[in-house]
Amino acid sequence: MSRISIADIRKDYILASLSEEVVGDDPFSFFHTWFEDAVRAAIDDVNAMTLSTLQEDGFPDARIVLLKGLDERGFTFFTNYESEKGAQLSKHPKASLVFHWKELERQVRVMGVAEQLTAAENDTYFASRPRASQLGAWASPQSQKIEKRELLEERFAQFEQHYTDAVPRPAHWGGYRIVPIKIEFWHGRSSRMHDRIVFEKQDNGTWSRYRVAP
Ligand SMILES: Cc1cc2nc3c(=O)[nH]c(=O)nc-3n(C[C@H](O)[C@H](O)[C@H](O)COP(=O)(O)O)c2cc1C
Repeated sequence: MSRISIADIRKDYILASLSEEVVGDDPFSFFHTWFEDAVRAAIDDVNAMTLSTLQEDGFPDARIVLLKGLDERGFTFFTNYESEKGAQLSKHPKASLVFHWKELERQVRVMGVAEQLTAAENDTYFASRPRASQLGAWASPQSQKIEKRELLEERFAQFEQHYTDAVPRPAHWGGYRIVPIKIEFWHGRSSRMHDRIVFEKQDNGTWSRYRVAP
């Protein structure tokens, strides 16, 4: 059986470029610009990002989560606080995020420290979710071993019967904010001569900006 030669898959990046003038001085504001471009380009799962956390033994662990908010404090997502990632973040709050908007030949990398959102923030977002997702938050002991799928479905049905009206937020379900210390914007260019512009948080709270080699 002949297999695809992975090493021979190549692509030249030609769409656009990235200059210091365009990026400006505020990485959040520029992130918004790129995010809006990605939304306008109708990119699938535009808010999907790879979240990396650290296991106790030092192994990094990565998975996709969905960006649910961004302000001048940081990037937020929601999950189960008792999940693997939740346990990892409670021991080591350092984390990274990666966005890849491949149709635009763009990547954003974020390095930062995770903090839990407040109960009020969690309640507000939980209340905005569809009922089935709310019930799923109760039914799924995220990251725990389960013997078979049927058990999960039974739990879902039990909670569905139990909460006939509004579904309250489980205490173990909520959000994190990744408060960035570093944000990198990458734009693919021809001949692997890509643009990379990095922002790093200074001790006085301002951002320094510099360019790095591709
Ligand atoms: C497109 C996509 C979006 C996802 N969004 C979330 C999310 O917002 N929150 C979440 O907890 N898991 C999300 N997941 C599932 C996670 O990737 C992961 O399986 C789950 O959070 C358990 O991770 P953990 O065992 O490392 O804690 C998403 C997966 C995909 C593929």
